[in-house]
Amino acid sequence: MKILVVGSGGREHALAWKFAQSERVSEVFVAPGNGGTALASNLTNVDIAVMDFDGLSDFAIERGITLTVVGPEAPLVAGIEAHFVALGLQCLAPSAEAAQLEGSKSFTKNFLARYNIPTAQFESFQSVEPAKLFARSLGLPVVIKADGLAAGKGVVVAETIAEADAAIEDMLSKNVFGEAGSTVVVEAFLPGEEASFIVLADGENYLPFATSQDHKAIFDGDQGPNTGGMGAYSPAPVVTDSVAARVCREIIEPTLAGLLEEGIHYTGFLYAGLMIDEAGSPSVIEFNCRFGDPETQPVMMRLSSDLAEVCLAAVEHRLQEQQLVFSDLTALAVVVASKGYPERYETGGVITGLDVDRRSEVFHAGTRLSANGLEVSGGRVLAVAALGESVLAAQQTVYQDLADIAFEGMYFRRDIGYRAIAREVT
Ligand code: AMP
Ligand code: GLY
Repeated sequence: MKILVVGSGGREHALAWKFAQSERVSEVFVAPGNGGTALASNLTNVDIAVMDFDGLSDFAIERGITLTVVGPEAPLVAGIEAHFVALGLQCLAPSAEAAQLEGSKSFTKNFLARYNIPTAQFESFQSVEPAKLFARSLGLPVVIKADGLAAGKGVVVAETIAEADAAIEDMLSKNVFGEAGSTVVVEAFLPGEEASFIVLADGENYLPFATSQDHKAIFDGDQGPNTGGMGAYSPAPVVTDSVAARVCREIIEPTLAGLLEEGIHYTGFLYAGLMIDEAGSPSVIEFNCRFGDPETQPVMMRLSSDLAEVCLAAVEHRLQEQQLVFSDLTALAVVVASKGYPERYETGGVITGLDVDRRSEVFHAGTRLSANGLEVSGGRVLAVAALGESVLAAQQTVYQDLADIAFEGMYFRRDIGYRAIAREVT
């Protein structure tokens, strides 16, 4: 079969890399892809933007694509699934309605409340004063969120009332996030440790992927502003087998059942961002309607099953016949960013040191091939990922391999996996 992966990030490189390993797959196209997918001998980039639905479906028809798999949220929220289905094309993607789970935080919070799925206490607001009052009633820290898509940056964990007030004003009266911030969700702070729990659903059945944990903050020690993710590892030690069973029972199953009750068959990847408290009780922080980035990279490193076969079974609503099997090894990925990210960052620097043999896999994100070679074209540039017998071993491999790679303004965190490593030591 032929597969078209839609997107250009590290997530899409990792998915395409895994699809290309399938014996059932003859060709893997990536639209538009990046420098890494351009260089890979078993992947082919096609220059079509992720929001050009006609361009993508024309390509799928012309080239006889068996299955299109969509990586990023924007085309999902904009309804790429309905566009493909109307043309009789197979597309692994939740519908626009289902993608509201990511596209609107107030939709999600109200949905969770309706089905008694554990999440932080909250209310949504469109005017400043009531939002401030409610924030005061919750105590500190308090969490202020822009309702719509804000590339992972529309969340402020406020430690003081002044910070909470400023966040509410920025979103509601100063329009810092535009339309995405015209409604804010004010919610209680949940203590605990975060984990990502991603499943593949076929409308009724689902299969969990291996658990993972990412580091969202830009600086070591989880300090500084949030990014899309600066590194990740799998499995997440905080999600023990019994916690995983609770997540399935208390969160994933009631979510899929609640959606079905509302007439929504969720098909595709569903990502639950969780907070696990000291007693092992999981709560939903957010849902994403897609795979995580950079969680995809370590999870795909550990996946032994044929991803193409399982994804095809999902769009054909026969996941009950399938299983997902993972290596017992740990995988860890470190994101290499361009200095300044998540704010303004440099582009155009030439990346060197990639053409040596190394134990790690290098997944590209913000890179492009130019006459000068491989250039930086985005904030998150690469994710270097390795397997190991422990989190520490995987981390050491990645950092050793990173020593060869260089570009002007290269930045990465030095402590990815530190929480999990502390657990291994004690
Ligand atoms: P979100 O975009 O909703 O995933 O939020 C981004 C990050 O903010 C999360 O990964 C958490 O680190 C933090 N966060 C969001 N909501 C809460 C909450 N209710 N309690 C504690 N931390 C939170
Ligand atoms: N790494 C978090 C995300 O993909 O949203």
